[in-house]
Amino acid sequence: MTGASSGIGAACAEVFAANGFDVAITARREARLQTVAAGLRERHGAAVHVFTVDHADPASAARLCEELAARGLTVDALVNNAGYGVPGLYNAVPWQVHEDFLRVMVAGVCELTYRLMPGMIERGYGRIVNVASLAGLVPAPAGHALYGASKAFLIKMSEALAHEGRPHGVHVTALCPVRCRNAVTRACRASMSSSARS
Ligand SMILES: NC(=O)c1ccc[n+]([C@@H]2O[C@H](COP(=O)([O-])OP(=O)(O)OC[C@H]3O[C@@H](n4cnc5c(N)ncnc54)[C@H](OP(=O)(O)O)[C@@H]3O)[C@@H](O)[C@H]2O)c1
Repeated sequence: MTGASSGIGAACAEVFAANGFDVAITARREARLQTVAAGLRERHGAAVHVFTVDHADPASAARLCEELAARGLTVDALVNNAGYGVPGLYNAVPWQVHEDFLRVMVAGVCELTYRLMPGMIERGYGRIVNVASLAGLVPAPAGHALYGASKAFLIKMSEALAHEGRPHGVHVTALCPVRCRNAVTRACRASMSSSARS
């Protein structure tokens, strides 16, 4: 479960733990991950493995997979959830911010999936949930050049991989949430109201 230190990721980790899975959770804020982990252990008796990861780091997916292997963990279900919004018009945002965003929202998801899906196919069981958004299905407003595009990418990638995985017991799904209140939606609202004013 990537991005499990808050919001949808923490909630999904709760669902998996409640259904008998041991859970490996990632995010940058280690203290918050430890709090989530303690709650999951206490409420569900799950084994919870904490990995402090910045998914914007291009080396992070390979490193995470190495650390999982070093701890003897196999991943039966991968939830690519880590994500955020970047408020602002496309050219008003520094390129590095866009590059990090694309790494977290697109390239990192592709790489983790690429590295973990073969093991699922080999074992004949796997679940991959890519947390996309309704934003990937509807027209994109100003100030959202990459957010909706990144989510549309995940939806299309999930559709194709669902066909590839199904014969091997690996189900690939794009989840399209709508407006859960938190940091992401606050950033989107701020961006939309500033682009509406300009
Ligand atoms: N909220 C909504 O209404 C909504 C609607 C549609 C889709 N979504 C999608 O749902 C997903 C979860 O968002 P949320 O609403 O639950 O927001 P959230 O509460 O802000 O959670 C985002 C999670 O992603 C992690 N994250 C962000 N950047 C990261 C990075 N560089 N490396 C590692 N982890 C990172 C955050 O952890 P750290 O900050 O600790 O690193 C946090 O755990 C996102 O993909 C978002 O686009 C949300």
